[in-house]
Amino acid sequence: MGCHGIESLPHLKGVASYSFKPAEDYLFAQAENPLLAGVHDLLIRVDPDQHRRDMGRPLLGDPKICAACHTQFMDKDMNNWGWLKMQDDYAAWLEGPFSHQNEENFSNATVVRCQDCHMPLVAASDPSANTQGEVRSHHFPGANTFLPLLRNDTAQLEETIRFLQSNRMRVSIEQPNRKNALQNLQALDEHLRDSEETLITIIWAKPPRSTLSSATMASATIFPAAPRTSTKRG
Ligand code: HEC
Ligand code: HEC
Repeated sequence: MGCHGIESLPHLKGVASYSFKPAEDYLFAQAENPLLAGVHDLLIRVDPDQHRRDMGRPLLGDPKICAACHTQFMDKDMNNWGWLKMQDDYAAWLEGPFSHQNEENFSNATVVRCQDCHMPLVAASDPSANTQGEVRSHHFPGANTFLPLLRNDTAQLEETIRFLQSNRMRVSIEQPNRKNALQNLQALDEHLRDSEETLITIIWAKPPRSTLSSATMASATIFPAAPRTSTKRG
């Protein structure tokens, strides 16, 4: 529920850069008595609009809200040295092809938000569902299959595998453009060098349980980088 209480983002420096104001509870929201908890659930269903307004603040659909936590840094008071950049999924997205906010594809209007990839619409009977009976999935799959395996969380594991196999990863390998670039012939499988498009399969650790018969966890398509003015191989 943490994210749903975020009211505004004073800046995008990250490390919890948000101001928090949770929605007011419906009657008996904290009740442990099952009867009162039932009344609470009924109240939500009687007036789902209020629930929808509380849960669905427009900011939740904006990739900036993800930056509040998925932009990370350390400062002098944490490491006794100085400002240090850490994981920054927001900047990676901004600089990538999906934000359409970098110079290479600024004019294209179709933006794929963090929410579109990590929170796809799924069918649900929740009172906050849209008119098609869907809500945004809250599994937040990434590339982490280890933790769901450790927790024996089959639903999360399957969601992660589906996510990684759904053609959402694009790897382009550019030819070196610097005169002093070194070419290591051993580093790249020779048949990938001039191929138009190749399907690579990433083989992950074999899952210990029988729920998964295949060890294939992710596949990605390699596209050649757009031709540059200088394509001399260095
Ligand atoms: C209030 C802080 C916060 C906000 C805001 C937030 N996240 Fe997260 N997110 C986390 C934390 C903490 C974890 C790690 C949770 C865990 O491992 O159980 C996480 C985990 C994830 C993961 C899984 C990473 C992995 O390695 O598998 C994804 C994907 C993700 N978040 C995407 C998003 C997206 C997309 C948004 C915006 C819609 C968002 N998050 C907003 C704190 C946040
Ligand atoms: C086009 C689909 C797509 C979009 C848009 C997207 N992601 Fe991801 N994201 C992925 C894929 C695929 C992975 C797994 C591969 C990887 O880790 O690089 C991933 C991985 C992650 C992880 C786990 C990284 C880790 O180190 O374990 C986090 C957290 C995350 N994304 C957050 C975000 C946030 C925040 C945004 C928006 C600012 C965003 N993603 C936009 C597809 C997407």
